[in-house]
Amino acid sequence: MSFLYEKIFRPLLFKLEAERAHQIAAFSMRILGKASPLRGLASLYCRTESSPVRLFGLDFPNPVGLAAGMDKNGEFIQSAFALGFGHVEIGTITPQRQLGNSRPRLFRYPSVGGIVNRMGFNNDGAEIVADRIKRNYPREKRHAPLGINIGKAKTTDLDQAAEDYITCFKIAADQADYIAINISSPNTRSLRTLQKPDRLEPLLAAINQARKDFSAKMGRQRVPVLLKISPDESFRALDVVLELAFLHKIDGIIATNSTVSRAESNSACCTEAGGLSGLPLRKRSTEVVRYLAKASGGRMPIIGVGGIYDTISAGEKLDAGASLIQLYSGFVYKGPLLVKSLARSMVHRCSNSI
Ligand SMILES: Cc1cc2nc3c(=O)[nH]c(=O)nc-3n(C[C@H](O)[C@H](O)[C@H](O)COP(=O)(O)O)c2cc1C
Repeated sequence: MSFLYEKIFRPLLFKLEAERAHQIAAFSMRILGKASPLRGLASLYCRTESSPVRLFGLDFPNPVGLAAGMDKNGEFIQSAFALGFGHVEIGTITPQRQLGNSRPRLFRYPSVGGIVNRMGFNNDGAEIVADRIKRNYPREKRHAPLGINIGKAKTTDLDQAAEDYITCFKIAADQADYIAINISSPNTRSLRTLQKPDRLEPLLAAINQARKDFSAKMGRQRVPVLLKISPDESFRALDVVLELAFLHKIDGIIATNSTVSRAESNSACCTEAGGLSGLPLRKRSTEVVRYLAKASGGRMPIIGVGGIYDTISAGEKLDAGASLIQLYSGFVYKGPLLVKSLARSMVHRCSNSI
């Protein structure tokens, strides 16, 4: 079946401008979400619940998740689950709707299996997305965790950034099984500066306080908060991130976002400005996962992301110390059936919980 995708659908989609192809794929996913008999069939064929993971107090039916950025607005969560994902992370969302950068802003590089994007957090805004989730994927219908990835608006100064995160947290927390704090997208100016200790410390302190207030107000258990980091930080900088993450009771780290480095791709390739993901990111993101796992003595749960295209690259992330994995580019290059094949390959290796 994945043969069909690689020989027929992918060549057709790759003839189109990359964002147009994404829109068509997203439209198909929305249709799948609405057509419940079709979704039921997809689910019957694709779902694998035989390698569950318990992490952050949540039950993941399998370790394979959809990375942030593909479903920015929470429009096809149920279809993603029907295709076999064990968790879905939507977003990045910002306090208000924003259009993102001008097009073209998405580029494929099939010769190296890479994607460059400079989307710039195009999204419907936190309120609209939270309402959509409440309507279409309420808690009582869930069989797998939903993460909501939050960020700051393009126009917000770094000094006010924490307020954007808190606004998004307050709006999204009720609908989220976990919240991912995105401080690593290369496409919002200065966002990655939030990884520096003098910025990260107050940000994490503010988020932790918002989370305590939310739990007290709603009478709910604390919402797990994860930090999504960049692959372009030095190991020394990662030590500090880890230290602050422990200090502020961050539940896990998502490693990694896309890279601004072009070291792993040849010079004639991937030349567009933006974040590079896919195969050229595979090695570095695995290094970051391995480093974090070692430096934290295995005490900080890690979601490994970057260049997962097959069972070998997925296994690499788990061997490096990740408890869960996520993918985006692999889905574009290998098609939807990749999810099932990865989840099935993990049946014998994952029964880990932290
Ligand atoms: C088109 C595109 C848009 C993305 N948008 C986001 C985003 O909004 N927020 C985020 O945290 N990561 C975003 N990412 C990064 C992915 O979630 C992931 O971290 C990265 O692509 C590495 O995984 P991959 O190699 O499997 O694609 C985006 C990636 C792509 C390709």
